[in-house]
Amino acid sequence: MESLKNKPVDSPNSDLSEQIKAATKDSHIRAENTQLMLNYQKGRITQTQYKLLLCSLYEIYQALEEELDRNCDHPAVQPIYFPQELARLESLEQDLEHFFGPQWRKKISVPAATHRYTQRLREIGKNSPNLLVAHTYTRYLGDLSGGQVLGKITQKSLGLSGNKGVAFFLFPGVTSPNKFKQLYRGRMNSIDLTEQERRDVLDEATRAFEFNIEVFDDLQKMLSITEENSRNDVTSNTFASSPVLQ
Ligand code: HEM
Repeated sequence: MESLKNKPVDSPNSDLSEQIKAATKDSHIRAENTQLMLNYQKGRITQTQYKLLLCSLYEIYQALEEELDRNCDHPAVQPIYFPQELARLESLEQDLEHFFGPQWRKKISVPAATHRYTQRLREIGKNSPNLLVAHTYTRYLGDLSGGQVLGKITQKSLGLSGNKGVAFFLFPGVTSPNKFKQLYRGRMNSIDLTEQERRDVLDEATRAFEFNIEVFDDLQKMLSITEENSRNDVTSNTFASSPVLQ
């Protein structure tokens, strides 16, 4: 992955929100064009696929939100700390319970890339909380943007009604996603960072996208194995034997 360190920040605007958008533009295109996201956009989403995605999102948001809660008074976290409006963990728990039943915790299955992503979140929560904003931007602003379309596609493709199974995509505490994103950008811009710290945040944001891309690619591999096994009528625990699992 290309590093932004020692490179001039090329956006003419000095706002962090503008710079982070410019710095991750190419990564966003790559994320949108992963096989998983391309299939998603075409409405080719199966329940198996969605359940696997929910498992990874659960692990990711658990790490992200625990680190945000722990660092909520940190000067680089406090302005962008919106648990009421943004927290996804409880909604993911509801969705997982909907699909897997009350024993859902025992059925969580995630690929190696998801572990790497959560390890990074824990590490920066502990050692560099300044960088958490790169991850909150990547996930929450994404959920409030393209994520809203993905929610509708999920509902339609899987024939779900109300918020059953799709609570993850719904933000009852956010009346207007666009207005909220504006508010959030203003809060990001209010964080006091040195030039080096700002570069580190921009660098971390491209890493955050990279982590997501790797998760999608691993999930796609797991799904290919699942499909292959079901074609071969293999009834063993497919995911446990997957090479993408740690
Ligand atoms: C913004 C679409 C995947 C992160 C957006 C916007 C759209 C969009 C339409 C609004 C752009 C704007 O307001 O200028 C999509 C589609 C996706 C997808 C169709 C896949 C099917 C992703 C993924 C991530 C992501 C996988 C990260 C994990 C973001 C972020 C923004 C955004 C952070 C906010 C950009 C900003 O305003 O600074 N996306 N997206 N998106 N997306 Fe995505």
